[in-house]
Amino acid sequence: MPLIPMRVLLDHAAEHDYGVGAFDVNSMEQIQAIMMAAAETNSPVIVQASRGARSFTNDNYLRHLMLAASELNPNIPIAMHQDHGNSPATCFSAIDQGFTSVMMDGSLMEDGKSPATYEYNVEVTRQVVKRAHALGVTVEAEIGCLGGIEDGHGAGLTGDEALAHLTDPAEAERFVADTGCDALAVAIGTSHGAYKFTVKPTGDVLKMDVIEEIHRRLPNTHLVMHGSSSVPRELVDMINKYGGKLKESYGVPVEAIQKGIKHGVRKINVDTDNRLAITGAIRKVFAETPEKFDPRDYMKPAREAMAQVVKERMIAFGQAGWADKVPNIGLDEMARRYRS
Ligand code: G3H
Ligand code: 13P
Ligand code: ZN
Repeated sequence: MPLIPMRVLLDHAAEHDYGVGAFDVNSMEQIQAIMMAAAETNSPVIVQASRGARSFTNDNYLRHLMLAASELNPNIPIAMHQDHGNSPATCFSAIDQGFTSVMMDGSLMEDGKSPATYEYNVEVTRQVVKRAHALGVTVEAEIGCLGGIEDGHGAGLTGDEALAHLTDPAEAERFVADTGCDALAVAIGTSHGAYKFTVKPTGDVLKMDVIEEIHRRLPNTHLVMHGSSSVPRELVDMINKYGGKLKESYGVPVEAIQKGIKHGVRKINVDTDNRLAITGAIRKVFAETPEKFDPRDYMKPAREAMAQVVKERMIAFGQAGWADKVPNIGLDEMARRYRS
């Protein structure tokens, strides 16, 4: 099956009340890990690349790796998504490279740091929706700001500051009407990266009630949770056991995500947990068998460790078992639907 628009996956997920993990990739082994987990669990897949990932891999490598993933897994529907596009130009270049979905993150200015105005966000998101929908490509937008920074992207807000930039449900409703985006990333108190919460999050810091209210106002909009790694203690411990120096931290509990899925969350972004799994596995090989130097000796366990995390998330989010039931709707058909 060729890569398909993300909207097809999210519509199917909404129809059957499940969520779809969106996993970031920077290498062949990460793409392979996701596909291994998807093949084993019969899961539809969202693979996403940040701007940093695109420049690290080079778009041409990424495009061909994704084509390989779909050739080798013809029964698995796959969407390829630009994570945190900082400008219409970034989104358009992704579309030119064959991405079937883009995120126009106009919650921040093009520098990827300064919180933007509502008007700016609407303006850039509209531009992207117009061009993307004409080609059948899906658009995710964001309103409200998360904490943390990804590869230079992010306002760098502390936990408390992020609470001041939560998504306002009334504004979210207006924003979707003003832009026509397919999916909306909302800020509910999470942050990107490994340091989200210093204690297990409760409703004071992780505002699941905001999701409920947004879903009540926008029952037909697919909601997206960024910063949704759970930062499992065992992965942090594994890294530290083999020489790492990560501080204690708490992520987003899988149960909170499952609650979100009951209230309209259809796309769940996970990167950090996979990074932790890969790093722990590599450190273990280096520490236990320092005589080894063949990259396969550590990349294979790293790939397996990531596949295990992805598999667990696919099962927990409910996407497992659905791959062969997602309709094969391509970009052209999607473009026709947007036109009508
Ligand atoms: O955007 C969120 C992901 O964690 C990607 O991070 O920008 O460091 O590639 P990155
Ligand atoms: P984590 O850092 O929690 O994995 O979030 C990833 C993300 O939101 C990518 O856009
Ligand atoms: Zn994100």
